[in-house]
Amino acid sequence: MKAIILCAGKGTRLRPLTFTSAKQLIPVANKPVILYSIEKIKEIGISDIGMIVNTENVSAFQDALGDGSQFGVKLSYIIQTNPKGLADAVSVAKDFLDGETFLMYLGDNLIQEDLVDFARDFEQKKLNASILLTPVDDPSRFGVAVVNGDAVLKVVEKPQNPPSNLAITGVYLFDSSIFEGIANIKPSWRGELEITDAIQYLIEKSYKVRGHVIYGWWKDTGRPEDLLEANRRILENVRHSRKNGSINGGSKIEGHVIIEEGVEIINSIVRGPASIDKNSTVMNSYIGPYTSIGQNVTIENAEIENSILLENSVVRDVDVRIDSSIIGKSATVSSIEKKPKVHNLVIGDYSSIKLG
Ligand code: G1P
Repeated sequence: MKAIILCAGKGTRLRPLTFTSAKQLIPVANKPVILYSIEKIKEIGISDIGMIVNTENVSAFQDALGDGSQFGVKLSYIIQTNPKGLADAVSVAKDFLDGETFLMYLGDNLIQEDLVDFARDFEQKKLNASILLTPVDDPSRFGVAVVNGDAVLKVVEKPQNPPSNLAITGVYLFDSSIFEGIANIKPSWRGELEITDAIQYLIEKSYKVRGHVIYGWWKDTGRPEDLLEANRRILENVRHSRKNGSINGGSKIEGHVIIEEGVEIINSIVRGPASIDKNSTVMNSYIGPYTSIGQNVTIENAEIENSILLENSVVRDVDVRIDSSIIGKSATVSSIEKKPKVHNLVIGDYSSIKLG
């Protein structure tokens, strides 16, 4: 069995972060979202993975992940030149898949549960398609499935009146019959070739389509608030502290905190769960729970909580606590000492700044 991870979307809701990186490469708890997916795929014994990327983000993926060998997998990069939907992404991967059964994983999904039973069931029952489902409060934002036991009776993409509360999470297993489904669909109201419609075709043609419901935590990390929630969930699972950096006598470390090599904590409080990556400096500051600080970050005279700071960013002399924020690579937040007290801003396109 092979796998494809779909990463060709533009990530518009995460601009400006996605102008310089792909959304699946944004770190959550100091690890790119995509690596959590690769781990899940590896767990079920798949190592041959096709990364479906676009012309703009392919080099960012290649730089970050290479051929996959450092993560114990073999990655091939497949370019979807003109992304026209999830079903189109599968078509683009047809040669790579070469008639094998495959797992399809939307690269910005984070799931807690392992996929071992899901994959075992698919193989043992020789299914044509299996979809991972989970109950949600707002099903009209997703593809929705109607099931009877584990049989899927119907799937519909983003219905206004959802026929059930079971959302399609974005993890699927297929055999090559899905290509027959894809060949028989038309673009949806949003102009995309929907994989949901191809699955509906299989159901109508009496192929064996099953659903596998999970109840653990699942997140599609498409928006800033989703990334922050994912960051909280993952940091919550940090059960042991690791303190490799230097912690100066006046500092206090509370709760579970990961402090990597080369980090300097000087005269500061760090209250976990939190993660501080290599060579960052925290001076005269407070780092509150659910904060992930990337490599080479400088924080001086500031308070930060429930936030993600990417590598090389600087926060200096800020007298209001920074909360629920994502600060991009090499970005600087600082205050002006001299009068008049003004806001002096150089903000990238599509940024969002809320002043306290
Ligand atoms: C896609 C799928 C949808 C699924 C969702 C999960 O939606 O089309 O069926 O429920 O991913 O994240 P999109 O993210 O393209 O709106």
